[in-house]
Amino acid sequence: MTRTHACGALRGDHMGQTVTLAGWVASTRDHGGLIFVDLRDREGIAQIGFEPTAAPDAHARAKGLRAEYVVAVTGEVTPRPPASVNPNLPTGEVEIRATQLEILNPAKTPPFEIADSSRVDETLRLKYRYLDLRGPRMQRNLRVRHQMAQATREFLDRDGFIEIETPLLMRATPEGARDYLVPARTRPGSFYALPQSPQLLKQLLMVGGIERYYQMARCLRDEDLRADRQPEFTQIDIEMSFVQQDDVLDLSEALTRHVFSKVDIDIPVPFARLTYQEAMDTYGSDKPDTRFELELLKLDDVFGQTQFRVFSQVLTAKGTIRGMRLPGGSSLSRRELDELESAARQAGAKGLAWFQVNPDELKSPIAKFLSADEQAALRTATGAEPGDLLLLVADKFPLACEVLGRLRLDLARRFQLIDESKWHGLRVTDWPLFTYNDEEGRVEPMHHPFSSPNPEDLGMLDTDPLRVRGQVYDLVLNGAEIASGSIRIHRRDIQEKVLAAIDMPAEEANRRFGFLLEAFQYGAPPHGGIAFGFDRMVAMACGEDSIRDVIAFPKTAAAVDPLTGAPAEVPPEVLDELHLALKLPPAQEKEDTRGG
Ligand code: AMO
Ligand code: AMP
Repeated sequence: MTRTHACGALRGDHMGQTVTLAGWVASTRDHGGLIFVDLRDREGIAQIGFEPTAAPDAHARAKGLRAEYVVAVTGEVTPRPPASVNPNLPTGEVEIRATQLEILNPAKTPPFEIADSSRVDETLRLKYRYLDLRGPRMQRNLRVRHQMAQATREFLDRDGFIEIETPLLMRATPEGARDYLVPARTRPGSFYALPQSPQLLKQLLMVGGIERYYQMARCLRDEDLRADRQPEFTQIDIEMSFVQQDDVLDLSEALTRHVFSKVDIDIPVPFARLTYQEAMDTYGSDKPDTRFELELLKLDDVFGQTQFRVFSQVLTAKGTIRGMRLPGGSSLSRRELDELESAARQAGAKGLAWFQVNPDELKSPIAKFLSADEQAALRTATGAEPGDLLLLVADKFPLACEVLGRLRLDLARRFQLIDESKWHGLRVTDWPLFTYNDEEGRVEPMHHPFSSPNPEDLGMLDTDPLRVRGQVYDLVLNGAEIASGSIRIHRRDIQEKVLAAIDMPAEEANRRFGFLLEAFQYGAPPHGGIAFGFDRMVAMACGEDSIRDVIAFPKTAAAVDPLTGAPAEVPPEVLDELHLALKLPPAQEKEDTRGG
């Protein structure tokens, strides 16, 4: 039997036609004489009726059908009796009177219900991913993903970009995560690194005169995983020659708008613009959710003369006092306030000062430490109205902002301040080129070491690197970082200066990416680019919280694939061939049964 129609495609127009359908049994209902089967394929569901007298053979076989059997059915498209018309189903007007039934493959009882896996344990869903993929959620998500990928290619192709594949077996690219390594059989003791991104290669493509490159690039990073991070993920990777920052950002905004428009989401352009410093000052985050206000305030001046030791000590130590006014927030209970305070402490703050704004007093455990003038100044500086709640954190600038930035999101959720129907895009520019790693006590690139310093700040590279701004930018959508890029360094002397600023000895730089430094001497054009986290964009378009739900075969948070069991041990002879010997942690040594 060859199928003539998709199950989900049948409509009133098909009435009277004889059709053959093929698909999976979604459900069966035996009404004594009559058997109804819902047959599912990727386009939808059709209802099939088996009558004992009209088609006794098919009816007899239909009795044996169970969920997920694969079958082919032939029959006539007929109207449903008015009482059983289902307006919620696109095929709800029609029903197929079966004349033939062929069972193509029986199925074991699935471990969960295909139609609704939303409450199924995720590891179980991933172990039987092929069943999970049959359900409506993954069917929709993978289609949206496909449409967005197609739209990306369509847009970039039209704009003169060339899609080029770059190798997976290569040298390490420094993007800040750990590398996945692949032992090289033919060169004992040497390893390929799987790319954390095609960063160096796309820059070499610019030296190679490609001018406009893109790739749906697989990136591999051995890092701590979260809902928005996978060990392998996909970037829309872009690089352009002879451009400035705004050229890349204008293109990126237009691309974002186009790609979302193809799945019926209207992203307003132009995006709002903030510098990194403004984003931190105003929202306490480098990827602020700007769909709601709740802005941070600098309150150092209010407490310049304070006797409250906690605050005065922080100010003396060149820290800062930042606060937030939550309109109507004084309704929070004492228990809720305690929760906020412990959330702040968990985020690293030493405490959280709160004030309930009453008509004639500020109610707070620390009000007694503040003079009447200070309290009045605090009211004025925050614009406090009766019924509001004020939250203050005193600390070093980055920590104070980060803590309040987190509380801001927490409170927005709690008070439902976010209009979920809104799409709000943002450009964050002027990132510091470097950041100080407190733990390791050294200067590191904020992004990667190939981003160009802002020309105005070049003079500070040797003297005050932490104040040098980079031509580095991010795109943020509804509080998620969807893309990141920079104008690159294209001259060897500047690249060497930047590497010196992060204390990378010339010898190490030459060993790790001497090939790039050399290429810069053969006529490298000015260039810049960006990379979008494609999985994140798709997850947002699908309304999914986790990018695992938009990837066909993702890994768990422990970087394991429950379906195939990867990563897996290998037999000793394979290790021998690769010239590798294992050095396992003691706990694992005992249970290690390799070689069976
Ligand atoms: P970056 O490392 O910021 O930049 O990555 C670009 C974008 O990729 C997404 N992303 C991820 N998505 C899922 N899982 C992950 N583990 C993960 N890590 C990053 C984010 C991020 O904004 N080569 C540079 C880009 C450039 O300079 O052109 C780069 O890779 O959405
Ligand atoms: P403590 O002296 O730690 O008991 O704090 C007294 C009050 O001040 C408590 O309400 C703390 O939450 C608050 N507090 C302590 N340290 C800070 C800080 N760095 N910023 C804001 N509030 C603080």
